[in-house]
Amino acid sequence: MKNKLATMLYGGDYNPEQWAPETWDDDIEIFEEAAINSVTINVFSWALLQPNEYTYDFSTLDKIIDKFSKKDFKIVLATATAALPAWMFKKYPDVARVDYQGRRHVFGQRHNACPNSLDYLRLMQQLVDKIAKRYATNEHIVAWHINNEYGGNCYCSNCQNAFKFWLKERYRTLENLNSAWNMNFWSHTIHDWNEIVVPNELGDAFGAENTETTVAGLSIDYLRFQSESMLNTFKLEKKIIEKYDQKTPITTNFHGLPNKPTDYASWAKEQDIIAYDSYPTFETPAFETAFMYDMMRGLGNGNPFMLMESTPSQVNWQPYSPLKRPGQLRATEFQAVAHGADTVQYFQLKQSLGATEKFHGAVISHSGRTDTRAFREVAQVGHDLKKISNQIMHTRTTAKVALLFDWGNYWSVEYMATITQDLNYTKLLHDYYKALYNNNVAVDVISVDSDFSEYDLIVAPLLYMVKDNLGKKIEAYVAEGGNFLTTYLSGLVNESDKIYLDGYPGPLRKVTGLWVEETDAILPTNHVNVTLKDDKMFTGQLVSDIIRLEGAEPLAKYASEFYAGTPAITKNDFGEGCAYYVGTRLDDSGLDYLFKFLIAKIGIPQLSTNEHTSLDITERHNGKDTFFFILNMSNEVQSLPLEFQDDQFIDILTDTHPKNVLEPWNVNILKR
Ligand code: GLA
Ligand code: ZN
Repeated sequence: MKNKLATMLYGGDYNPEQWAPETWDDDIEIFEEAAINSVTINVFSWALLQPNEYTYDFSTLDKIIDKFSKKDFKIVLATATAALPAWMFKKYPDVARVDYQGRRHVFGQRHNACPNSLDYLRLMQQLVDKIAKRYATNEHIVAWHINNEYGGNCYCSNCQNAFKFWLKERYRTLENLNSAWNMNFWSHTIHDWNEIVVPNELGDAFGAENTETTVAGLSIDYLRFQSESMLNTFKLEKKIIEKYDQKTPITTNFHGLPNKPTDYASWAKEQDIIAYDSYPTFETPAFETAFMYDMMRGLGNGNPFMLMESTPSQVNWQPYSPLKRPGQLRATEFQAVAHGADTVQYFQLKQSLGATEKFHGAVISHSGRTDTRAFREVAQVGHDLKKISNQIMHTRTTAKVALLFDWGNYWSVEYMATITQDLNYTKLLHDYYKALYNNNVAVDVISVDSDFSEYDLIVAPLLYMVKDNLGKKIEAYVAEGGNFLTTYLSGLVNESDKIYLDGYPGPLRKVTGLWVEETDAILPTNHVNVTLKDDKMFTGQLVSDIIRLEGAEPLAKYASEFYAGTPAITKNDFGEGCAYYVGTRLDDSGLDYLFKFLIAKIGIPQLSTNEHTSLDITERHNGKDTFFFILNMSNEVQSLPLEFQDDQFIDILTDTHPKNVLEPWNVNILKR
């Protein structure tokens, strides 16, 4: 068993190696003023630690670790393997990634190692071994941070060769492979394993990387292979650390909305604690950020996660990076805690002097002063966290609704050459998450491999790819009393992107009690009308399935187009449970109506029945106490939902009863 974090970490990325050692004490004093208790160090120090292949120099890192240990800081120690030193590119060019256009990276940037380069793997393991061996016994290290934000794919000849062996293992024979990918299409049949070519812009692609391709089965397998290759490098590092330290949790920072190349569902299984870097833009609605936090909590089976990075004020890399408004920082950081984070960490603790991140916000800005708005807000968050840390740490959230997110499906949906170009998997899932969020229903975003049994409702929009046993798993879940909802363009293909014959939605046909005869594409300027029994009228966009019932009953029908009068939303009793099918991209009010119906019918708990658009309402509990987080995620005054306008609630941040109005960005943590 690994250790758990004992106290909430408040801190983030700090790069003292960019500064003279004489400045470190002043920095520490400032950190302490803001109640910062933790630093993440050594994320990008490889070139300093190893000036050439045969020389290692830990003198600076020793001093840094010693300094923070003496000051009793909690250290998140990174392995420094995400940015390669210049000498390595020079000596071993194959360490560098090759892009989708077939061009090999040269020295520069970061996150550009080939995960199948034997030279990279050897040098990386040597470095990690030295770091782990040297610092493993330091009890101030509370987590190991491997590499950084794994991401881009490599298309080099080493990867091509490794892919060939990966495919042999998966398919055994060329006959199986040709059949899985349907390679008789456009003369793609392969007669020799050496004919395998990795995806390339001048190969099977129609567009940019990870978008359209001729044989999606091949490209999806390549994404699986690359994700596994990167995960293998993570596992290699982890194994080395565990040689010296079996107690301290090991993790890497997940990122993106979510990140496409890394199948986090399989990566999550290797993490001792899930860590996430959160960078909403100024126009990201609060529910989209919440969606990612609920995914991180879901990936960790409901355990608390780390907010490994966030910005204390602004970033420098979005098209426009406004400052967080006065008070906004407190709301954005507590939003992560509200959804299950047990740490609040920033990128970065000190603003750098030069290079591309010098204008990225930081706790210590270029002025070096603490009498600033941004610093005061950082300090307030620090003192707030210190106050509530003991009560909130390790508490959990119970959700009775789960939203399925699957990376294989993510890839296949966005490779799909189909009747509309507007298939953005995450965005289309947001429709459903938002409807639940606005109704204050707790949601776990989980993978198709998760345990379904604790949920009253599983929502699986756009489940285009249904893997081998998933259809059976869903049938069993519903038969035993579960409720399942899926939508248009679901159940079309298997794991290799090959069509299920005999009627869509293939393996979901029995449970939904219907089949889809045709699917219409709706122009962005158009819509289809949808009516319910009581004459309520909604609209559908994107696509509309023309549904033929095989046992299901219609809940709503189309009311325009040549298919007017045919089912648009259906319900099918199956065993003890029920399956719902939504044939079109229902508008927000339609989804709200549908979920209100489901909430009432199934008895799904709501934290508040107040309508709202700007409050984030969640709970975390420990078996004894429940803490309700009510955050005003807007710049406007909001009223406290009626359920909480009650003197039995105490705000543990202020030790007072909550006020009935929430000031802009106000944060309440209420305990009964
Ligand atoms: C990422 C990286 C950090 C830093 C931040 C800037 O999340 O992990 O090193 O570059 O972005 O926002
Ligand atoms: Zn490669």
